Amino acid sequence: MKKEYSMIPKSIKENDLYGFSWIDFVTSIPSVLFLVTTYKSNGKPNACLQSWATFVEDYCIMASVNKNKHMYKSIKETGDMVLNFPSMEIYPKCVETIKNNGFDVDEITESGLTVERSKIINAPLIKECFLNLECKYLWEKENVEGSEHVVMCVKIINVSMDTEYFDENIKGRYGETGYIYNIHNPTNPETGKMEDDFLGILQKIK
Ligand SMILES: Cc1cc2nc3c(=O)[nH]c(=O)nc-3n(C[C@H](O)[C@H](O)[C@H](O)COP(=O)(O)O)c2cc1C
Repeated sequence: MKKEYSMIPKSIKENDLYGFSWIDFVTSIPSVLFLVTTYKSNGKPNACLQSWATFVEDYCIMASVNKNKHMYKSIKETGDMVLNFPSMEIYPKCVETIKNNGFDVDEITESGLTVERSKIINAPLIKECFLNLECKYLWEKENVEGSEHVVMCVKIINVSMDTEYFDENIKGRYGETGYIYNIHNPTNPETGKMEDDFLGILQKIK
């Protein structure tokens, strides 16, 4: 049996949705987690966790970039950024970047991670991440008119990947050591019960 929902279910109306749509919670579609690193206008490295994004050919489309954060401002200033993919082992340090969010702070070093210069562009990268994608800003569009969030398209111009990860017989890209997924508060539309946020990993089946 399926149930249809085209408006916010009554049970969810009382929940605090932190500015997200109820559809995010009902569908809770997982998306890959990564950190966007840039240089702020004072030269300090910035790191920003992102998850609502998709990748195709040499493009990444970030679906919900907050215009009021350092990441957006520094991309508009430099046009350059690195998308860094962490494994679970270093994820707690990645979350620290949210706490260490001062303008005058090197958010990468302060969170216990290592800054390296990119090979081609003007942005820092995180050494401990198994995959670093050096990117150039292409275009953006407001999600809806007047929104604080934009959809942003960037072009990948350099791929740097740990050799143990591109060999699927050593660490590979998936499973416990590979890509991490954001599972955002799965919520039952009938009862309104909201689960915790979870982190997911991907298992290859066949
Ligand atoms: C799991 C997770 C996923 C996130 N995904 C996004 C996202 O897709 N877009 C966004 O604008 N912020 C996202 N954030 C929030 C930013 O990481 C957060 O606001 C950050 O502190 C902004 O950093 P900045 O001011 O240095 O750019 C996410 C946070 C977490 C914990």
